[in-house]
This record gives sequence, C-alpha cells and structure tokens, in this order.
Amino acid sequence: MSSQNSSSIKSVVVAGASGNLGPAVLKELLDSNKFKVAVLTRVESSATFSSGVEVFKTDYTPASLNKILSAEKFDAVVSLLNLTKPNLAEADTALIHAAKNSGVKRFIPSEFGLDTTNQELVKLVPTFGGKINSVKTVQSLQSDTFTWTAIVVGAFFDWGLAHNALGANFTEKKFKRFDSGDVPFTVTSIRIIGKAIANLLGDDKKLAATADKYTYISSYTVSTNQLIAAVQKATDEDWPIEEVDSAVIEKKASASFAAGNPWAAYELMQVGMFGKELANHKALVIDELLGLPKGDFEAEVKAIVASMPKN
Ligand SMILES: NC(=O)c1ccc[n+]([C@@H]2O[C@H](COP(=O)([O-])OP(=O)(O)OC[C@H]3O[C@@H](n4cnc5c(N)ncnc54)[C@H](OP(=O)(O)O)[C@@H]3O)[C@@H](O)[C@H]2O)c1
Repeated sequence: MSSQNSSSIKSVVVAGASGNLGPAVLKELLDSNKFKVAVLTRVESSATFSSGVEVFKTDYTPASLNKILSAEKFDAVVSLLNLTKPNLAEADTALIHAAKNSGVKRFIPSEFGLDTTNQELVKLVPTFGGKINSVKTVQSLQSDTFTWTAIVVGAFFDWGLAHNALGANFTEKKFKRFDSGDVPFTVTSIRIIGKAIANLLGDDKKLAATADKYTYISSYTVSTNQLIAAVQKATDEDWPIEEVDSAVIEKKASASFAAGNPWAAYELMQVGMFGKELANHKALVIDELLGLPKGDFEAEVKAIVASMPKN
C-alpha cells in the first residue's frame, strides 16, 4: 500500500455499495491503494464485487451489524443506503450505532445530493427527512474519536445526464427547460464523489478539515441552457425543447405528493434545482482542499453522449 499522505484510516467498509454510486466509490478506494476495503450487502442481495473487496452479508439488524463491525474493527464507514427511499431509517440508525460501538473513527452518512441544510429546499422537497435524521444521529453520537463528514454533491452529473435527471432525454431526443433555463445548479460526477471519499479518508489533514462538517464538492456549476448547448454540440443534433413553468410544476407536484405519489418529490427537486436556484453550492466547495481534479465540462458531456446507446 502506497501513502504520500499519512492517514489514521486503514480500513473502510461501504454499506449499499452495489447501487448507482457504490461501484465508483469502491473503485476510487481500491485505486488509492491506501485501504483495506470491505462492503456490507444484504443477505438476499445478488450483488457481486471485485476481488479486492471483502464481502459481509447482513440483515442490517443491530445484532448483525454489531457482530460484524466489532469483529472487523473498521476505521471508517461509508453509508450509501438510499435514504430518500422509505424503510431504511432503522438500518441506517443501527449502522451508525454499530459504528460508534465498534470504534469507527469517521462515519460518512448517505448525503451525496442537494444541500439538506438549505431550509427552503427542505421545505419544498418532502423526502429529505431520512438524510437529515441520519446526520442528526451521527451528531448526537459525535465525540473526539467518533467523527462524521456529510458530503454535498448536488445532482450526479454523468449518471444524471444519462438518466434524464438533468433535462436531456436521450431516449426521446428532447430537452425540458424550466423557466428561463439560466438558473445555475451544481453537479458532480460519480467518479469525483468516489475520489473525494478516498482523498479525505486517506489523509489526516483532510480528515481534520472535514471533521463533523457538511462538506461541499462539485464537478461543475452550470445552467440548463449551458447543458443544452453542450449536448447539442456533442450530438450535432437540434432536439426540441419542452418549455415548462416551475410555478405550475410545483403546484401540481405538491398536490400529487400530498395525494400519495412519492415520485412527485422528484419533480419538486427539479423545481428547486432548475427553477429556484436551491442547488447552487458553488461558493461553498472545497474541491481544491480535497485534491479533486478540475473537469472539462464540454469534453465530459461529449464523453457521456458517446457512451449513450444509439437509437
Ligand atoms: N445527487 C444525485 O443526483 C443522486 C442520485 C442518485 C442517488 N443519490 C444518493 O446517493 C446515495 C446512494 O444512492 P444509490 O442510488 O447508489 O442507491 P441505490 O442504488 O438505490 O441503493 C444502494 C444499495 O443499497 C442496498 N439496498 C437496497 N435496498 C436496501 C434495503 N431495503 N436495505 C438495505 N440496503 C438496501 C443495495 O445494495 P446490496 O444489494 O449490496 O445490499 C443497493 O445496491 C444515496 O444517498 C442517494 O440519495 C444521489
């Protein structure tokens, strides 16, 4: 194992590492050559992991988690449990307590999205409670030896662009534009999120700078109009643009969520991002301190476009 910077973190376990974000996080942890890397995966999961990763099956009960974590004595836990989905609060709380009980030094809760300290955003989007409670739980247990870092990334960039989360629909070849399309929002590529985790856990100075804090990272802060222009340039195509009014969407989506449609929260998140500038955290980023590389926006859009299935 190489180490240019010294770190008190030698072993890391990632919970929920087989989803959208997990593979990028595991890759960066392994590529850093600084840690023994392990995962927690559900008993019923069929997920598989690369050979350098030790796999622990769990049912996420306190008994199971305490047994694994106290035997393995991990230095850091990264939670990627998707707390915007219902029913994961108990598993998450059990994981945090097991981490504290077993002597884990740094806990990274499953934030990895928009800034849930932004009260206007939290009022607009009703599904951030799980993330907020997770940080409240680690805060309630924090001590000189049990510390935490919540990482705010904005929207996933590469994943979001490919999955129609940023207004470009590659399947139907069309864009959606909220209002003027000029509102800036912050996005981060999943590789960069993995790198941020590996970099901060791999260096005592970075660990100290991010202890018990919300920590903000980014790849880019851009507007819908900039994104449309970059996709048009990369595809060399002129897709139609559906113009939408964020006030109208907000009203409809709020009513729909209240009537029991959980997906409406996603539309409310888009209103916050593209209509109300509640996802622009450019002023808060510490990318340089974490040693994150600067991206090339147009080149990255081009690469994402090239990776999309042709239809
Ligand atoms: N900013 C953005 O644009 C954006 C987009 C997507 C996600 N996120 C955030 O990124 C983080 C990770 O999200 P993700 O999309 O990677 O998560 P995900 O794919 O929905 O789930 C991650 C993993 O959690 C485990 N899991 C699933 N259901 C579970 C359950 N009931 N109990 C325990 N574990 C369960 C599974 O792993 P096993 O099969 O191995 O058990 C799954 O692969 C979350 O905080 C999420 O909110 C942000």
